[in-house]
Parts: sequence; C-alpha cells; structure tokens
Amino acid sequence: MTCRSAFLTNSAVVSDLFPAKDFDHWAATYDVQVALAGGFPFEGYAAVLNKILAEADPRPGMRVLDLGTGTGNLAVKFAAAGCEPWCVDFSLLMLLQAKEKLPGARCFLANLHNPLPLSAGKRFDCIVSAYTFHHFDLAEKVELVRGLLHRFLMRCGRLVIGDIAFADRKAQEKTREMLGESWEEEFYWIAADAVPALQSAGLVVRYLPVSFCGGVFTIWERLD
Ligand SMILES: C[S@@+](CC[C@H](N)C(=O)[O-])C[C@H]1O[C@@H](n2cnc3c(N)ncnc32)[C@H](O)[C@@H]1O
Repeated sequence: MTCRSAFLTNSAVVSDLFPAKDFDHWAATYDVQVALAGGFPFEGYAAVLNKILAEADPRPGMRVLDLGTGTGNLAVKFAAAGCEPWCVDFSLLMLLQAKEKLPGARCFLANLHNPLPLSAGKRFDCIVSAYTFHHFDLAEKVELVRGLLHRFLMRCGRLVIGDIAFADRKAQEKTREMLGESWEEEFYWIAADAVPALQSAGLVVRYLPVSFCGGVFTIWERLD
C-alpha cells in the first residue's frame, strides 16, 4: 500500500492557484518556520491557535473537524483537551507529519475545493481551521462556510477559523506597502468585508483580532 492510499481521498483534479505540491515542499520546514515567525504573515501564530481553541471551548469526547490540518499543530491542542480530531488536508507530506504527532487521528487527503469525502450525516461538535482559508476568495469562503455548517456541524456547534486577516483594506494596504516586493498576493481575510458577507448569508459572526495580520472568526447559524 502506498502512503497516499492510506488516506481516504476526494482527488478529482481541480485547477488551483495554490497546488498541493507547494505545501508538500513546505512540509519539512513548516514547523520551524512558524515557531520562529515574527512579522507578516505568521505574527501571533501561537496566539491565533490558542484563540481558536478558546473559542471552540473544547470538552473531552468532542468530535472536531480540522480543515487544512498541515503538520497538525492545531489538532494536537484539541487531542490534548480530550477531543477526537478528524484531519483534512490535500498535502500528503503535511498530513503524514500530522499523523506522526496524532497516530490516533482520522486523516483525510482531500481538496477543500471539492466535496469532502465524509459520509452523509457525519456531524461534528466543532469545525476549526488555521491559516488555510486565505487560499480561497471571499465568495468561496462564504460558500464553503455555509456548506460546512449545513452538512457537517451539529446544531449549536461552531466553526472557528483563525487566519491571516486584516481589520480593513487600509490595514492590508499598510502591510503591503511595508513589505514592498516581498508581499505575496493571496485572499487574506478583510474583516470589514467578510463579516457582512457572512451575515448576509444568514450567519452569526464574531471577529477577534489577535495580531496586526492575524485574527479569529467564530461563526454559527442563527437558530430562529
Ligand atoms: C499554512 S498551512 C496551515 C497548517 C495548519 N493548519 C497550521 O495552522 O499550522 C495551510 C494548510 O492548508 C492546506 N491546504 C491549502 N489549500 C487546501 C485545499 N484546497 N484543500 C485542502 N488543504 C489545503 C495546505 O496543504 C496546508 O497544510
């Protein structure tokens, strides 16, 4: 059995601005890079992960879906809190590192642009994600969030996303100017645009800034 066939996949090929192979190349150095990170884009990385955990309010036995698990740094925190992490990533080399840290976790090699390879009716107490949704434009973010809440989250559950985020366009522009040539164009969250877009989709959103370029969105369905 190959490593790849050890994971359930949804491997339909989609064109992707940010392909899995880029993350495969990054997997070996990722943990060192985020541990040493200061400045854009990982300023406040540890605090963002801790804020996701706090917003998710983990309890022993909770089933938690982690999207874009990477090397497993967020899922490890939920496992330590007694939760059951289910990990999704499209980079085999990232996922293999997560599996090493979390031998008991369920891992799925899957592209979030495609439907998740989870059985219909499978529901999670909480869905979380760190530093992954900035690879999707705002329209796709909203659609993905809506689909996840509708199909995979238990009633009264929360979706908690921590990521590269700015309060507004002016704040993003300031960082772009500061970085000059080294700025990389990706779909960073702009809270001033994303919060109303999610609210227009009928969702309740709380945004908590953590650093000048990182923040956490807690999202749930209005139950009225
Ligand atoms: C910057 S890393 C973040 C990893 C981890 N969540 C953390 O906070 O350390 C982004 C992760 O998202 C995954 N990813 C990006 N786009 C994806 C997609 N379309 N489908 C599944 N995983 C994706 C990458 O493979 C990578 O592991």
